Amino acid sequence: MIHTTTAPRTLGGDFLLGGDLPVRRIGFGTMQLTGPGHWDHPADMDNAKNVLRRAVEVGVNHLDTADAYGPHVTENLIRKALHPYPPDLVIATKGGLTRQGPNRWTPLGRPEYLRQCVEMSLRRLAVERIDLYYLHRIDPAVPLTDQLGALADLQHAGKIRHLGLSKVTADQIRQAADIVTVAAVQNRFHLVAADDPALAFCENAGIAYVPYAPLAAGGLLWARGSLDYFARAHGTTPAQLALGWLLTASAVTLPIPGTSSISHLNDNVATDLDNVPSAALAAAVRAFRSSPRAASTVTGRP
Ligand SMILES: NC(=O)c1ccc[n+]([C@@H]2O[C@H](COP(=O)([O-])OP(=O)(O)OC[C@H]3O[C@@H](n4cnc5c(N)ncnc54)[C@H](OP(=O)(O)O)[C@@H]3O)[C@@H](O)[C@H]2O)c1
Repeated sequence: MIHTTTAPRTLGGDFLLGGDLPVRRIGFGTMQLTGPGHWDHPADMDNAKNVLRRAVEVGVNHLDTADAYGPHVTENLIRKALHPYPPDLVIATKGGLTRQGPNRWTPLGRPEYLRQCVEMSLRRLAVERIDLYYLHRIDPAVPLTDQLGALADLQHAGKIRHLGLSKVTADQIRQAADIVTVAAVQNRFHLVAADDPALAFCENAGIAYVPYAPLAAGGLLWARGSLDYFARAHGTTPAQLALGWLLTASAVTLPIPGTSSISHLNDNVATDLDNVPSAALAAAVRAFRSSPRAASTVTGRP
């Protein structure tokens, strides 16, 4: 069953995460609120807190973070900016990726480490239960039953409400679903990286599919060309077209665009499907994908 409502369309409308947590479909990813290489603090901590406050002020109620962002930086920022939390705020965090420096990430899925990750995230976020906890990466060196078993124990102890998986194949979701109830899957997905069999699996199972890097980590917006042309033609912006496409790609998508800028945040949350007729959206996406710039958008800044 797919847990969506058709109205309102503000922030993409609502979705029932895990069957019981209502979230607006456009959330906010906090990874950009860190230093270079997602290491250490952002240059401007006050700005980072203001971005978080603004997100909540405009109605975003699904924040995505991880202990590895910083590490620990964004979980602490969320607490400092927003605690005590609004009652409808859903905070998703992750564990199981260790950090060795800027842009360096290594999976570690030993049960005792995952237990520590959860305990420390609870402390940093100042919550008694984590709404949605992702295994950030499956560690190939540890049996999946041990990794998910440790998280399931914490769920049964009341420390985790829902469990999710990150960067997984449809087969891995299937295996995980034999061990735990999977409420959400977070995979890289955007309009030029849109071939992921895990999406159909999630759709059939009513699992939330959270496209990470929904703007190709900014790559979709650096290229100039048909995305801008269609955005201008419909009085919208390239970011809103890219996010609008994700909202229409499936009823279970919950994009979490990330930004360190209040004006970009305002742009992203103003995505309004009513402003972009689906035929125009499809035409824009087709034209953009076939443009010579499309491939370069996913490889980095031009
Ligand atoms: N599960 C995982 O393994 C995983 C991996 C990667 C990311 N994530 C999650 O997914 C979230 C989103 O991914 P992401 O932050 O890497 O990439 P993204 O959302 O695709 O794009 C972020 C980039 O786009 C720029 N941007 C955002 N909105 C813009 C706008 N309206 N106009 C112009 N530029 C704009 C941002 O720069 P400015 O800061 O200058 O706005 C930033 O460089 C992360 O924050 C994180 O929570 C998860």
